[in-house]
Amino acid sequence: TDKGFIFDLDGVVVDTARYHYKAWNRLATQLGFVFTQEHNELLKGVSRKKSLDILLNIGNITASEDQKQQWMEAKNQEYLEYIQKMTPDEILPNVPYILKHLKEEGHHIALGSASKNAVQILQKIMLFDAFDVIVDGTHVSKAKPDPEVFLKAAQEMNIRPENCVVFEDAVAGIQAAKAANMYAIGIGKKEVLIAADEVFPDFTTMTPQFLGAIWNVPKV
Ligand code: G6P
Ligand code: MG
Repeated sequence: TDKGFIFDLDGVVVDTARYHYKAWNRLATQLGFVFTQEHNELLKGVSRKKSLDILLNIGNITASEDQKQQWMEAKNQEYLEYIQKMTPDEILPNVPYILKHLKEEGHHIALGSASKNAVQILQKIMLFDAFDVIVDGTHVSKAKPDPEVFLKAAQEMNIRPENCVVFEDAVAGIQAAKAANMYAIGIGKKEVLIAADEVFPDFTTMTPQFLGAIWNVPKV
């Protein structure tokens, strides 16, 4: 078909936020300040570089670019240790079913993630082959809320942006999807993802009927 479905990775396909948290939290502890789960919410969907800047801001810490680079590398080393242990059991509920359904309907399926570790994660959870197109943090220069990642995915699928649906758990990701002129489905809380066209708590309550009706303009 001429429809494309773009999945964010972290928080949509897998719950890696807790691994990011553990790794960032170690750095914050080393630097001598408290980094809470609430603070961690601010890092969702945000690039590694921007995440560090937000973290340092919370701790009221300034540092040279070299120092920041070292901290990012140390954080990522720890994060990679957690990722190495991931298995397909960590795929969030109903995601495989939705992917299978969309494929059967002949839709194009893409990954649109800010992560530079996306391919490794997909391999660990055995979903690498489920996506026709993968656009991740290694392919883009502008992080969400910039629409670059999603526009690139649409382009590689050869689908017009207005014929794309994005699944996103982060505020910055919903903003990016709307800036790309796509239909944005939030995965999470309605009060948080206010700019989304529709919000589901997770994939277990999302039906093929709902997905099939997205482009049916209601008759007035
Ligand atoms: C996702 C996560 C963010 C993370 C970013 C970069 O968007 O939601 O929390 O900072 O990816 O991930 P990376 O694996 O490249 O450090
Ligand atoms: Mg996410």
